[in-house]
Amino acid sequence: MTDKKISEVSLLNFSAISDQRGKLISLEASKNIPFNIERVYYLFDTIKGAERGFHAHIDLQQIAICISGSCTIDVESAEGKESFTLDAPNKGLFMTGIVWREIRNFSADCVLMVLADALYSEDDYIRDYSSFEALLTSFCFNTTDSEN
Ligand code: TYD
Repeated sequence: MTDKKISEVSLLNFSAISDQRGKLISLEASKNIPFNIERVYYLFDTIKGAERGFHAHIDLQQIAICISGSCTIDVESAEGKESFTLDAPNKGLFMTGIVWREIRNFSADCVLMVLADALYSEDDYIRDYSSFEALLTSFCFNTTDSEN
């Protein structure tokens, strides 16, 4: 992750192709998706009140899109804490680098689709919050150090 930011989180807005029949959104690798899509997974039938996530990744790019219903994603990164409501299929939350994420407030009809630039690997997960904090601090410290 030498020339990448420590972490980056941003809300993307996908353009829909509309006609009298309705709307269509096309997601294309390296066009409106800023990486090569290696994996797609989706969360659905989430039990009322359930919360998911509670992890960060070491080196994974992801975009989360609520293609039905809504949920909120609370993130913590080098930029601080932010909360995003995904409530429309044209909104995508891009996350890369060291980002702690917690997903909650799933509506009954929520289908949260996630695009990722790598296959599933448990080795890429940081599931312990204190380890996440320590890693983020060490990255921030090293970056500040090298800038001086
Ligand atoms: P988990 O990461 O705990 O889900 P969440 O972050 O939404 O709480 O994943 C649940 C289980 O599914 C866990 O055993 C790992 C497995 N899994 C895969 O096999 N492939 C995948 O692409 C993902 C995301 C999870």
